[in-house]
Amino acid sequence: MRHLMSPLDLSVEELDNLLDLAHDIERDPKKYAHACDGLKLATCFYEPSTRTRLSFESAMLNLGGSVLGFASADSSSAAKGESVSDTIRVISCYADICAMRHPKEGAALVASQKSGIPVINAGDGGHQHPTQTLTDLLTIRSLKGQLHDMTIGLCGDLKFGRTVHSLINALIRYPGIRFVLISPPELRIPDYIREDVLRRNNIPFEEVKRLDDAIPSLDILYMTRVQRERFFNEEDYVRLKDFYILDKKKMALAKEDMYVLHPLPRVNEIAVEVDDDPRAAYFKQVQYGVYVRMALILTLLKWR
Ligand code: CP
Repeated sequence: MRHLMSPLDLSVEELDNLLDLAHDIERDPKKYAHACDGLKLATCFYEPSTRTRLSFESAMLNLGGSVLGFASADSSSAAKGESVSDTIRVISCYADICAMRHPKEGAALVASQKSGIPVINAGDGGHQHPTQTLTDLLTIRSLKGQLHDMTIGLCGDLKFGRTVHSLINALIRYPGIRFVLISPPELRIPDYIREDVLRRNNIPFEEVKRLDDAIPSLDILYMTRVQRERFFNEEDYVRLKDFYILDKKKMALAKEDMYVLHPLPRVNEIAVEVDDDPRAAYFKQVQYGVYVRMALILTLLKWR
């Protein structure tokens, strides 16, 4: 049995097979409409979510399976003090696979160690969000036709943004990837990503503050929200929340084939006027998230 805690749990070959399967699902969804008949997915979400939880549920329903779960810690026995380890042992009696989101880093890993069913990390604190990364990779591959030889700009809250940490970990395995890390000094990428992931693997990167200077060289611009829920004080959040606002004027500086991605939810960091730009790919990205989660559910259930 395999779990998914980080994109690195999959080899590049396994990742490519998964993306191929997601592409086939997109091409011919009817072929998979009964692939999970009689099987159940549990969504155990201790932290708010729209896309991840509902796309997992949509994915399982598309495969002919059923879903059960809870959408907040308050509506589960976590509110009475039940541990994640006990909860997953219980859920293993009710479902065949589980997607778990938790505000604490490592919670899904703890769950996987006691689980009788595959556990998918649906986001653990500021640590990792592997299924968002699978979504991002499928989006980039579908739009650009490749995952290699590109300049990727990551902009916004690079300190707390777990989607950024997961995406860097996944993309460094492809040749010719270069990063431009665009953030205010307070929200720079954590040291462990800069030193242990980027420098250790000799990945070219630069850290800059101004989006206008960086945008002309980018093939992909990955915008992120400043993560209010992970700040220790509101004053800092208010000071930093509108540091970057991508608007039409900035888009005019970008390449004609540069795509804008965002894991969503968006707050102010992309002006609504950008939505009509053909390079705005963040809502397409949401649809790719369903295909890739269908592929992941099928793959983990096959490996069980
Ligand atoms: N992208 C993402 O994780 O969105 P949700 O928080 O709505 O699940």
